[in-house]
Amino acid sequence: MLTRCVLGASHMLVLVLCLSAAEDFDWTKNDRGSFYYGTFPTGFSWGAGSSAYQTEGAWDRDGKGMSIWDVFSHKKGKIFLNDTGDSSCEGYYKVKDDISLMKELKLNHYRFSVSWPRIMPTGIKSDHVNEKGIKYYEDLINLLLENKITPIVTLYHWDLPQVLQEKYGGWQNISMVNYFNDFASLCFERFGNRVKYWITFNNPWSVAVEGYETGEHAPGMRLKGTGAYKAAHHIIKAHAKVWHTYDTQWRNKQKGLVGISLSGDWGEPVDITNQKDIEAAERYVQFYLGWFATPIFHGDYPQVMKDYIGKKSAQQGLGSSRLPTFSSQEKSYIKGTCDFLGIGHFTTRYITQKNFPSNRGNSYFTDRDLAELVDPRWPDPGSEWLYSVPWGFRRLLNFVKTQYGNPMIYVTENGVSEKMLCTELCDDWRIQYLKDYINEMLKAIKDGVNVKGYTAWSLLDKFEWDEGYSERFGLYYVDFRNKNKPRYPKASVQYYKRIISSNGFPNQREVENWKRKATETCSSSNQLLAAEEQRSTAANILRLIHDPLTSHMEMVTEIVVPTVCTLCILLSAVFLMFLLRRRN
Ligand code: NOJ
Repeated sequence: MLTRCVLGASHMLVLVLCLSAAEDFDWTKNDRGSFYYGTFPTGFSWGAGSSAYQTEGAWDRDGKGMSIWDVFSHKKGKIFLNDTGDSSCEGYYKVKDDISLMKELKLNHYRFSVSWPRIMPTGIKSDHVNEKGIKYYEDLINLLLENKITPIVTLYHWDLPQVLQEKYGGWQNISMVNYFNDFASLCFERFGNRVKYWITFNNPWSVAVEGYETGEHAPGMRLKGTGAYKAAHHIIKAHAKVWHTYDTQWRNKQKGLVGISLSGDWGEPVDITNQKDIEAAERYVQFYLGWFATPIFHGDYPQVMKDYIGKKSAQQGLGSSRLPTFSSQEKSYIKGTCDFLGIGHFTTRYITQKNFPSNRGNSYFTDRDLAELVDPRWPDPGSEWLYSVPWGFRRLLNFVKTQYGNPMIYVTENGVSEKMLCTELCDDWRIQYLKDYINEMLKAIKDGVNVKGYTAWSLLDKFEWDEGYSERFGLYYVDFRNKNKPRYPKASVQYYKRIISSNGFPNQREVENWKRKATETCSSSNQLLAAEEQRSTAANILRLIHDPLTSHMEMVTEIVVPTVCTLCILLSAVFLMFLLRRRN
């Protein structure tokens, strides 16, 4: 029997929704439930992804400097069970193993990130460049290419060098723009003859909001209503600068592309007949994806952000908007700095209008004047925030097409998690999720959206930020209790592999067969894993029993024995003196 491991109840507001009204929404209305059999355009690129801090481990090896995540995760109470990414999947030592997993999947590309402090320990080029760190990435890139897997390299997946945080306040400070540009230039110089796809930032929304507004992520700052906007402003400028650096100095020689990976949930109006809900849903998407995409494609922030944050700032009695402004020179410099757009997408929300009065202080969340809702029927197998709503993916992709002039898109993250108590390799819910989301992406391509590749998130189970190891996104299960961190294929590996080799969904009979085959093989792997886990649990128990014994023995030999001996000698001396006295 399959164990569905769903821990904890939903933290979201779960309301009765006006679903009947939402049913008649333009171009996707008849397709919400239907499955589309067909294949992807020739040359479509299939991949899987990871990021440095989440998988590499080796946090203090071979000259690596500290990142804000090393420091943050070592503070008590920041991460679930106080876990850290110190060793994580030990990816740093397992490049060959992991590339053979990619080969098993027949991946066309692999997305990973470069750890800035691994190659520049303080983040500052003039301080020191760590050749051992460079060598690690060189070997990884070379091995990928030897195996005909295209590297897609992210420059910033959240692990800012700690020195830059301490000295300057990290992304609150404009000086990050030049430091990041130096780091990116070094990567272009050292890896650019082999890497043709660069992503400047991964999900800057999270960096800004969770790093500088809510403080759930490193560096853990809570600068409500200002911190996120300021961080985002500097990130957008840093992205543009790096794009221009590549464009003017490297593009001719290296012929690569530079993009950014933005994440975005889809926001669907609760009541499609209510203009306020329609506008609120639009605001949700503009404050999320549009915050970064609109400056990059059109030169400035979305009008609705400028209006709402400006209005709220005025109500607070502030002289200017909490949303920073770009000069006209900056606008033209930023506009058009994107060769392809990376999209990370996982879930959808229903959105309704909700006013937040300004007198109780403002934040990014209250600035939007909306509430997020979920349908209790949406599957929610893992992370509390992650509901499976495949049709939202197609809508988001169409939104990108119409808003930003049909750019070239790579889906840089898409996938689903399960909770940690699972040692379940038969991940039928992931199979379902991938099947449905990839199918919606196929429909979007038929709508004319220019999607060139898809990256399943993630190749391995790994450190899931503030959730530690409690949420597993991997196609491959990692046994974190075993110090060798062995990997085991989940059933979804078999399924994804078949989607890749057929370049889509050829016909109903075949596709149904895939699921049957995938679940057949996983039961035997499950037994293997369970046996292995029992063995390592037993070994751990023995170690626990053994450990107190060892320390007990040490205490006996190092403290008790010498003390007793000294006492004995003293007593004998006293006794001897007593005897001698009596004789006299
Ligand atoms: C987006 C982040 O970029 C990634 O690192 C994370 O694992 C996924 N979200 C899932 O939470």
